[in-house]
Amino acid sequence: MDNFDFYSPTHFVFGKDRENEAGQMIKKFGGTKVLLHYGGGSAVRSGLIDRVKASIEKAGLEYIELGGVQPNPLSGLVYEGIELCRKEGIDFIMAVGGGSVIDSSKAIAAGTVYDGDFWDFYCGKEIEEALPIGTVLTIAAAGSEGSPDSVITNEDGMMKRGASGDAIRPRFSILNPALTQTLPAFQTACGVTDIIAHLYERYLTNTKEVEVTDRLIEGLMMTMIHEGPRVIENPDNYDARANIMWAGMMAHNNSCGVGRTQDWNSHQLEHELSALYNVAHGAGLAVVMPAVFTYVMKHDVMRFAQVASRVWGCSMDYNNPELTAKAGIGALKNFVKSIGMPVNFEELGAKEEDIPKLVEALCYGNGRDGSVNGFVKLDTEDCRKIYELML
Ligand code: NZQ
Ligand code: ZN
Repeated sequence: MDNFDFYSPTHFVFGKDRENEAGQMIKKFGGTKVLLHYGGGSAVRSGLIDRVKASIEKAGLEYIELGGVQPNPLSGLVYEGIELCRKEGIDFIMAVGGGSVIDSSKAIAAGTVYDGDFWDFYCGKEIEEALPIGTVLTIAAAGSEGSPDSVITNEDGMMKRGASGDAIRPRFSILNPALTQTLPAFQTACGVTDIIAHLYERYLTNTKEVEVTDRLIEGLMMTMIHEGPRVIENPDNYDARANIMWAGMMAHNNSCGVGRTQDWNSHQLEHELSALYNVAHGAGLAVVMPAVFTYVMKHDVMRFAQVASRVWGCSMDYNNPELTAKAGIGALKNFVKSIGMPVNFEELGAKEEDIPKLVEALCYGNGRDGSVNGFVKLDTEDCRKIYELML
C-alpha cells in the first residue's frame, strides 16, 4: 500500500426529513448570509426549496437565490454566481440538487475568494481556499457531496474539466434518500452507473497488496448490483434508495481509493462525450467503460478476472483468466443495459465522424501532452481505437 493522507471532514446528516435542519447546520458552520444555489426546477416543483428556505429563515439567517444550474454545469453561471457573492457579501453557499449544482457551488465558492479567473483551478491549480459549502443531495450519483472535486464545462470551447482541493469539500451534506424518489428511472440508472464507475476507477490500480480497499470496493459494487434493479422496479423503495445513497458517497469520498494508484481514464473519455453532446454523465460512462476495459484488459488480466469472479459471479478459469475477465466485462455491459442505459454511440446519440474531434480535445485540450494517463497510458491512437469500440 502507498503512503497517503486522508482528510474528509464533512458532517453527514442522513435520513428522512433531515433537509429541515439545513438552517441550523449552516449556522453551526458560521454562515450568516447564504447563497441558495439550485438547478433547473425539480427541487422547486417538489417543494424542497421552500422547505430549505423555511429552515434558513427559522435559523435567523439571510439568503439570496441563484437557480438554473443545468446538468453538466456551465462556466457562465459560475461567473454570475461569483459576482453575486462578492456584491452581496455572501459567506456560505447552500447547494440543493445533484452533482451539477454542487459542482457549480464549489466553483463559485473557490472563485469568490480568488483574485484571478476561477478557470485556473480547472487547468490544474489546486484550490486552497473557498467559501464554506453545505449540500442537500437530491440524486445519488456523482459523489460530490463528500468529494474534494468539481467538474465544470467552459462554454468557451465546450471543454469539460475537473478541479480539486480539500477546501471545497462540503462542511456538511444532508442525505435524505426519500428526496431521490422523484427521479425519473433514467436518471436513477445514470446515478447507479456513475457510482459503479467511481468504484472501477479505483479498482483498476497498479498498486499491489491492497486487499482492504479491494474488498471495500467489491462490497459496494455488489450493493449497487443488488439495489440498482430494485429501485428501477420500485422507485419508492426507501431502503434500497438509502443503501444506494450511502454507497454513492462512500464510492467517491476516496475512502476506497487511498493508498493505491487509480485509473480515471473512463471518466476522461466520457467527459468529452458530455461536453460535445451534453449527454448524462452516467449514460456516457455506460458506453465508455466496457470499451476501455476491453482495450486495457491485457495490462492486468488477473485484476479483471478477480472482479469478474468476486463481484459478477463468473467462475474463475485459472488456465485461461482472460475468458473470466471478458465474462466480467460482458456482465457489466448486460447489467447497465438491463437498467436502461445505452451501450453504444448510436444509443447515446454520438457520431462516428466526431471521433477525431473527441480524441483531439481529450488528448490535447487544456495543454495535455497528447495522452491521458491512468491505469494505462493512452495515446491518441489508443483513444481513437477505444472510441471505435463504442460504435
Ligand atoms: O436540474 P433539475 O431540475 O434539478 O434536474 C436534475 C437534472 O436534470 C435531475 N434531478 C436531480 N435530482 C432530482 C432530479 N429530478 C427529479 N427528482 C430529483 N430528486 O436530474 C438531472 C441530473 O442532475 P445532475 O446534478 O446533473 O446529476 P449528477 O448528480 O449525476 O451530476 C452530474 C455532474 O457531476 C459531475 C458530472 O461530470 C456531471 O457534470 N461529476 C462530478 C463529480 C465530483 N464533483 O466529484 C464526480 C463525477 O464523476 C462526475 O464527473
Ligand atoms: Zn462520475
